[in-house]
Amino acid sequence: MTNQKATAIERKELNLEALYPKISDEGKELSQQWIEKYSLAKSVFYQVGELVKTEVEKWTATTGKKTTYSEIRRHLLANDLVKEFAKMRTGPASCVFNAARADINADLDYQQRIKTWENTATEYLNLNPDLEMPFYVTAPNFHWSPYVATNDWEEQFLGCVWDIGTSIMGQSSPTVRNYSIGGGRLSRMVNYLSKNFPNFKPQRILDIGCSAGGSTIVMAMEFPEAEVHGIDVSSSMLRCGHALSVALDLPIHYHQMDASQTTFPEGSFDLIVSNIVFHELPNGIRRKVILECSRLLSPGGIMAHMEGGTYMAPTNIFQKLWRESDIHTNNEWYVGNASMEKLAVYIEEAGLSTEGSLLNKITPSSEFFEGALLIGGQKI
Ligand SMILES: C[S@@+](CC[C@H](N)C(=O)[O-])C[C@H]1O[C@@H](n2cnc3c(N)ncnc32)[C@H](O)[C@@H]1O
Repeated sequence: MTNQKATAIERKELNLEALYPKISDEGKELSQQWIEKYSLAKSVFYQVGELVKTEVEKWTATTGKKTTYSEIRRHLLANDLVKEFAKMRTGPASCVFNAARADINADLDYQQRIKTWENTATEYLNLNPDLEMPFYVTAPNFHWSPYVATNDWEEQFLGCVWDIGTSIMGQSSPTVRNYSIGGGRLSRMVNYLSKNFPNFKPQRILDIGCSAGGSTIVMAMEFPEAEVHGIDVSSSMLRCGHALSVALDLPIHYHQMDASQTTFPEGSFDLIVSNIVFHELPNGIRRKVILECSRLLSPGGIMAHMEGGTYMAPTNIFQKLWRESDIHTNNEWYVGNASMEKLAVYIEEAGLSTEGSLLNKITPSSEFFEGALLIGGQKI
């Protein structure tokens, strides 16, 4: 890897083939199972949503009471079809990660490529074996995806399993592959920032909870003049992110660090971002992370965290249904205590300004679950 800033890379020019293993027969079969099961769940979802909507409307008409979230929730949780839908939605998740494992296992050349890339430009990969994994990361098995390495194979390839698995899941997932075909929430955030802050040209960028570099690589490509850093608590994620960045010749610095207490000096960054991290943090940690971002931002610097629209500000019954299934069967332990209001308090407490609509729902979309939230603030 050359020790220079990345030059702007056209999405279409990315050679992604080498970054992924060949699709094995078993992987193909499992991916197909995922597609079929998930599309069936989605069709049931709309039917169940309509049913519950009718029930709630009837209840409102007979009682004359306002339909609060807790009332809708009561109807959702009492409905057996909702429970069936929730199982249908979350059950197939294991297919995509098993598909990724099967593909990796079957492609020895891919394994070798990853190892070689990982062992190149190692000054860009700063692991800290003494970092204690936070309990709130290790205890849940969020949406049944692998996160935390438990044996040798996993330590080496778990980040890749996650990256490949989420890329199979679809366009709105992180991963470089999905970014290259126009998906990904971070690119929407970058567009939003350039529209609302046209003169903002970050020089040092930090991506927190960067996983296997899906979001960090997007930042390095979108801001080729900037020095880009990614942090995560999981070493296997960082190892994969580093390998993929080397393969793409992007000089990204990866560090194994806890976002709520980093070791960077005050004012180190002018843009701090994250992608789908906040909903996986308990409320107290969200507050600490926002405080830490404020400490790390230079004056005028911007913090911009992207989240799924349904997690923190569901507005209609379908979003609420999706969110309830996240909490109760998709193992999203901390989605239930997430709300935009609390975050606004934390942001203000951290001394950041949210002018310029930095705390906002920025991408309503036709597919409700692709809507995205921006949790942001600017250092005054
Ligand atoms: C859903 S993933 C993020 C995906 C990634 N940003 C992307 O776009 O590809 C959440 C990540 O946050 C990391 N994480 C959770 N708590 C953290 C903390 N306190 N500090 C740093 N990373 C953390 C997890 O290890 C996990 O890799």
